[in-house]
Amino acid sequence: MKINFAFIFSVLLAVGLVSLGFTFFEVSKERNRLKAELENRSSLISQEFNNLLPKGPDLKDQTYDTRISDSLSTKYNLLGVAIYYGQFQLVAMNSEVRPFLKETRDYVAQSISTGTPFGNFFTIAGRTVYQYIKPSVGDQYEKYAVIIYSDAEYISNITEKIFIGNFIRLFIQVLLLVIATTFLIRWGIFRPINKIVNWLRAVKDGKIETLDEKPPVKFLEPLHKEITNLAYAMQEARATAEEEAKLRSTGEAIWTPDRLKEEVKKILPDKMLIVVSNREPYMHVHQGKEIKCIVPASGMVTAVEPILKACGGLWIASGTGDADRETVDKQNKILVPPDEEKYTLKRIWVSKEEEDHFYYGFSNEGIWPLCHLAHTRPIFREEDWNYYKKVNSRFARAVLEEVTNIRNPYVLVQDYHFALLPEMIKKERPDAIVAIFWHIPWPNPEFFSICPWQSEILRGMLGSDLIGFHTQYHCHNFLETVNNSIDSRVIKENLSVKIGDQTTYVKSFPISIAFTLRDYDRKDENLQTSREILSKYNLEAQLMGIGVERIDYTKGIIERFLAIEKFFDKYPSYQGKFTFVQIGAPSRTEIKSYSDIIIRVEAEAARINARYRIKDWKPILLLMKHHSHEEIMPFYKAANLCMVTSLHDGMNLVAKEFVASRNNNDGVLILSRFAGASHELQGSIIVNPYNTVEMCDAIKAALEMPRKTQQKRMKQMRQVIVEHNIYSWAASLLRTMVSIQG
Ligand code: G6P
Repeated sequence: MKINFAFIFSVLLAVGLVSLGFTFFEVSKERNRLKAELENRSSLISQEFNNLLPKGPDLKDQTYDTRISDSLSTKYNLLGVAIYYGQFQLVAMNSEVRPFLKETRDYVAQSISTGTPFGNFFTIAGRTVYQYIKPSVGDQYEKYAVIIYSDAEYISNITEKIFIGNFIRLFIQVLLLVIATTFLIRWGIFRPINKIVNWLRAVKDGKIETLDEKPPVKFLEPLHKEITNLAYAMQEARATAEEEAKLRSTGEAIWTPDRLKEEVKKILPDKMLIVVSNREPYMHVHQGKEIKCIVPASGMVTAVEPILKACGGLWIASGTGDADRETVDKQNKILVPPDEEKYTLKRIWVSKEEEDHFYYGFSNEGIWPLCHLAHTRPIFREEDWNYYKKVNSRFARAVLEEVTNIRNPYVLVQDYHFALLPEMIKKERPDAIVAIFWHIPWPNPEFFSICPWQSEILRGMLGSDLIGFHTQYHCHNFLETVNNSIDSRVIKENLSVKIGDQTTYVKSFPISIAFTLRDYDRKDENLQTSREILSKYNLEAQLMGIGVERIDYTKGIIERFLAIEKFFDKYPSYQGKFTFVQIGAPSRTEIKSYSDIIIRVEAEAARINARYRIKDWKPILLLMKHHSHEEIMPFYKAANLCMVTSLHDGMNLVAKEFVASRNNNDGVLILSRFAGASHELQGSIIVNPYNTVEMCDAIKAALEMPRKTQQKRMKQMRQVIVEHNIYSWAASLLRTMVSIQG
């Protein structure tokens, strides 16, 4: 809507015409009212005159008539009176009205003959006069009529004033109305429509950033949401098409969610994939009056969730969020992810007591330290073990209920919380294809043998058709453990275990993250710098390091802090220049070793900071709370280096996520040789977390590494991850399960 001269002229003309029309109407209404009033008044006066007139033979007594006329003219402020006597004799009762008689003559006879009064206006010598002719009634005497002349000039004056006043008022009112309407249309309709047009253009051109801006008016919000979803869907489709084109040229070496979906359809037709884990992928928690959905900090969740998102299926897990019960249906199920609804999450309720013994006790005070060589003594209590069995059988029942009508159901059990589940499922459903993936390391046989229930655990696991570990080394440790402790046949040639009729294959599947060719090619623009990030915490430093984990004694956080301390000691020129950001999600805090490690981490950071702190700078920024993936990303992207210094770790996906986030191929990863990821990420600086000096030198080497070298190493690591992403992991695992079924 363009506002130019022509527009303004047309508006003014239209407003003028409308105002004129309305004013004419108003004026004529007022004129009619005044005329009616005058007519009424004249009629009453004529009546009074009539009553005073002599009747019968005295009718023509003009002297008397003139007196009456004069008295009434004075009383009613008339111009005068005239009388029509029979024989067509029209007589003025005063000299002023004499010139008016010619205006009366034509009407008087007609009025008398029809017996109806008559009134009209005429103008004489520029003066407006109203004459009212009132004929006599009855026929006993000679007919006559009384004519009353009133000054009607005031009517013209009033209507003129009304005309001008009304026209101006109406003109202004209509003009204001038009301006307001124009404004409303422009802001209320044109602006939103323009916005929608711009959004659609952005969708067409793939410029999603344009959609970041909030809609100008609230009612557009739902439309904006839908258009944004559409834009993302189109971007996804575009990127998939591009990716497919690239994949064709790379010989389909790289896996994508779509490719995995197709593969699952092909190898598992009409089958639903069932995943079982303790930790759920989405947790609902109360936050004030609202319910928030969060993704818990868990490497297992990071890895497994993209698979279910791509293929659909059912994920059975403990419901541990304080609002979890409020968000499920009658079968304790909910479609997730929120807004996307790609697969079903079924929540199993574990009581506080069960959680204490099954989760905190046997799983995390027993098996976790048993499998991680981090010098924390495992604790085995019989009560914990009994609850472990109880909760395992509860989950087994839940799985069995879900697969009653499915032949050869595929069940993928996750982690050390459910070592007994495979055997329990297989006992009831020998046709099921069951795999268990052990996300943590497997220690050597001597170490594992300290578990009082090692045979039961091994037998439980060996109920499955396939056992997966991250590394070949863990597979060997497992097979050795089996060989040393239970009556079975370990076949080294094909890495399997035979107990009676049951054969279990043991294979390494290095787990990974959802990193596709599209992610690999993504370019970063307008990145936040480490300076900008640190300034939010009132810190100043030009170089930044990052560490992200659950606060766990296996992660080597204290060892890392000691190396940082050493670094500032040995290389003081970095004081004031480099800050290490440690993001730590408190974890399993009901276990003493975990609450202790939180206290130690905080104390060490405080001690080192107190030692070196100057003005706006400190060596360590400790952010002790759960951070979402989106919150962590800017830290990954801005950091000069990332430290993953686990004392022992199955894989460690933080290392892979950091590498994947480096779209500009720079930055350095310092990685523990005791993390499974160190087998694949050879471009990192591999360290022994127990060697403080080696780690402190690794920090220096990372900060001083030429950009070209950084890029070469980072590129190579990103290549490894894209070629071995979580989709290829899932495809390989599922293909192996299918091949076992035969
Ligand atoms: C490790 C385990 C996962 C577990 C995660 C978080 O990565 O392998 O199974 O979910 O730690 O621990 P949490 O006890 O919080 O589930």
